[in-house]
Amino acid sequence: MLKERLEFLRGPGGLRAAGYFGLKLITRIDVFRIVWILTRSNTSLMLPPGWRYLSLHTEEALSGLSRAMIERVAEQCGPNPKQLVGRGGSLHLLVAGDSLVAQLSIERGPNCRVDSPPLLLGMAETDAFLGYLYTWPAYRRQGAARCLIAATVSDLSPHNVRRILAHVRATNVPSLAAFEHAGWKTGATILCTLSGRLLMAPGAARARLTVRPVANAPKVG
Ligand SMILES: CC(C)(COP(=O)(O)OP(=O)(O)OC[C@H]1O[C@@H](n2cnc3c(N)ncnc32)[C@H](O)[C@@H]1OP(=O)(O)O)[C@@H](O)C(=O)NCCC(=O)NCCS
Repeated sequence: MLKERLEFLRGPGGLRAAGYFGLKLITRIDVFRIVWILTRSNTSLMLPPGWRYLSLHTEEALSGLSRAMIERVAEQCGPNPKQLVGRGGSLHLLVAGDSLVAQLSIERGPNCRVDSPPLLLGMAETDAFLGYLYTWPAYRRQGAARCLIAATVSDLSPHNVRRILAHVRATNVPSLAAFEHAGWKTGATILCTLSGRLLMAPGAARARLTVRPVANAPKVG
C-alpha cells in the first residue's frame, strides 16, 4: 500500500494531485478540470494484437453486441446504452475477444447533464462530451484508455463533431495523464463543495462553455 502511494506521488502529476487532495481536506472543495481536444481523423491508429475498437451510434449497432456484453458495459456506462444512443449519443468500446477492455460514452451538444457533480453544461452544437471513461482492471496500464480516446477522437470527426470535452477530478492522476498524453488541453476549472454544489467555473466563458447547477439535484459524496 505504501509502495503504491509512493508510486502515485512519483507518477505524472502526482504532486499536483496530492496538493488537490490537501486542498479538498482543508477546504471541503472538489476541483474538476475541463479538458478538450479538436477532432481529427487519424488513419494510423494501431491497436495491440487481438484488440478491436467498436463505435456504436445506433440501436441497430448496439444489437450486434451480446446481451452479456451490453450488461457488462451498462455497469460502468451511467445512462443505459439504449437511452444514450436514442438521444444522439454513442458508445465506444475496446474489446479483446469476448472481453471488454475499456469503454467510454459520448453525449452530443448543445446541452449535456453531468452526473457527478450534478451540472448542466451548455456547449456548441458541434461539441460532444466524453464521460464514463473506464478501463477494466485486468487491462490497466496497457495503453487502453489512450488508444480508446484516440480512436474516439478520430471516429467522431466525420459525425459533425468538432470539439470533444471531458471533465476530470483534479486528484485523478491516471485519468488526467491519459488525456494529457493524448494531446488534450485544459480549458476551464470547476469548483464544487463536496456535496456537489457549484461554487465557480473559472475559464468556462473563455472555453465557450456554460456551467449551471442542476435544480433539486440529489446530494452526492
Ligand atoms: C483512468 C483510467 C481510465 C486509465 O486507464 P488505463 O487504460 O490504465 O490508462 P493507459 O494505460 O492508457 O495510461 C495512459 C497514461 O495514464 C497514466 N496512468 C494510467 N494509470 C496510472 C496510474 N495508476 N498512476 C499514474 N498514472 C497512470 C500514465 O501516464 C499512462 O501512460 P504511461 O503508461 O505511458 O505512463 C483507469 O485507471 C480507470 O478506469 N480508472 C477508474 C475510472 C476512472 O477514474 N475514470 C476516469 C473518469 S474521468
